[in-house]
Amino acid sequence: MAKDPGRVFIFDTTLRDGEQSPGASLNLEEKLAIAQQLARLGVDVIEAGFPFASQGDFLAVQKIAEQVGGIDGPIICGLARASSADIKACFEAVKPAPRRRIHTFIATSDIHLEHKLRKSRKEVLEIVPEMVSFARSLIDDIEFSCEDAGRSDPEFLYEVIELAIAAGAGTINIPDTVGYSTPSEFGELIEGINKNVSNINEAVLSVHGHNDLGLAVANFLEAVKKGARQLECTINGIGERAGNAALEELVMGLHVRRRYFNPFFGRAADSPTPLTAIRTEEITKTSRLVSNLTGMVVQPNKAIVGANAFAHESGIHQDGVLKNRLTYEIVDAQTVGLTDNRISLGKLSGRSAVRARFEELGYDLSREDLNEAFARFKDLADRKRDITDRDLEAIVSEQVQQPEARFQLRLVQVSCGNALRPTATVTLADQDGQEKTTVAIGTGPVDAVCRALNDLAGEPNELIEFSVKSVTEGIDAMGEVTIRLRREGKLYSGHSADTDVVVAAAQAYINALNRLISVQGSKALHPQFDVVEAPTRPTI
Ligand code: KIV
Ligand code: ZN
Repeated sequence: MAKDPGRVFIFDTTLRDGEQSPGASLNLEEKLAIAQQLARLGVDVIEAGFPFASQGDFLAVQKIAEQVGGIDGPIICGLARASSADIKACFEAVKPAPRRRIHTFIATSDIHLEHKLRKSRKEVLEIVPEMVSFARSLIDDIEFSCEDAGRSDPEFLYEVIELAIAAGAGTINIPDTVGYSTPSEFGELIEGINKNVSNINEAVLSVHGHNDLGLAVANFLEAVKKGARQLECTINGIGERAGNAALEELVMGLHVRRRYFNPFFGRAADSPTPLTAIRTEEITKTSRLVSNLTGMVVQPNKAIVGANAFAHESGIHQDGVLKNRLTYEIVDAQTVGLTDNRISLGKLSGRSAVRARFEELGYDLSREDLNEAFARFKDLADRKRDITDRDLEAIVSEQVQQPEARFQLRLVQVSCGNALRPTATVTLADQDGQEKTTVAIGTGPVDAVCRALNDLAGEPNELIEFSVKSVTEGIDAMGEVTIRLRREGKLYSGHSADTDVVVAAAQAYINALNRLISVQGSKALHPQFDVVEAPTRPTI
């Protein structure tokens, strides 16, 4: 990567830090679908996972490296703790990508050194050059992070960073791991690093931050003014606790306020050259895909991608907007790909017309996937007059959720009303096609369906979230249901859409149950909470 890119690199960590959010775990197909969409969005780097965590994580990073990394595509990156075993696993996983990166890290704050690593500053100063040069012996592109930099002693940080760059790190990342900094403090930290690290010009300075105080995006924008040129962020801001800095907010902040930021890049204020390589019109689609697959619902008032971000409710506002949009709107909804395209497809449309529309939407479906998507489209067209792009997106995201489903929903039938006890009849098929049917009574139709499904599946769990929203407007709109289940303290989510919300609820419940079953017993390491136990010295 060029040391002074003259713009900002966008490093997306939705599949690594984002997936660390409770209940956001994704299967291989889902990770691939998100990675492919991130490539369409134009991110510079995809952090695809933490390969040492488990066999499943390793395979997912490897498949993304094989299928999404390309000579002109994004760099595929994996995370590794500062240990030779982690770094080796990471190298093997990203190896298939023509453009690949190892991202290794160690904590630098005294609080982490004392209570988590139980190591002295001196030990950290030994480990950093050793591990960075080991990683560099495997791959040219190395990123090094000082975990909890926001609470680290700046003088110690300068020493660590200098050693990491001397050992071969081309990107130095400064995380505000616990979201503690304020914008001016974070900007000063970046400025101090730029002034006090003698070899800093040999590396790209990157920032990473969590949103515990709601300041992550503001901190990053201040850091950009002080010379940060890579931003680590996630779609919809998902991530540990309050999440990470949101990609869409950073990108649109830099886009809409380009005149303000341009001079910090040595450009004329009115330079029209974009400050990132993101295709902004892909933002809405990416946001919806990530929300559907992770089950992390986007709040309606969320900047850029929330359902109300471009809605003008109040009479005064509507009047102003009708006279001139600029009165109350700083972003044109089309810039982020928000259109209400109604396609001229209906009941009588053929396969090729449907395939063409999927392709225009950026979905390159295999023959089998297209057959399934077409069957779903036909089924929907029988029940719904106008089919929108949004409906097609719902069809595709539903499909990638259930490739190796243990249970398939075959039938759901409910009777309810003010004079009836809600009763559900449900049929499930297992992997061998064996069908079982049961009937259950509940407090409402959804409760009755969930009780029946639980009876048949025999997998204990607790329903902790059930949310419904409509995909589009109109009485025949599809309803989207997101369900979150808990078992032994872990969360599992499922999502589905249908014109019948009870059917959507049943399918979402099955999707969550299938996810719960598929990860049963598999223990994945957490990159930050599980401390390296193996020796750190390279063994090859
Ligand atoms: O928040 C953090 O410090 C991280 C590092 C591993 C980069 O996610
Ligand atoms: Zn993080």
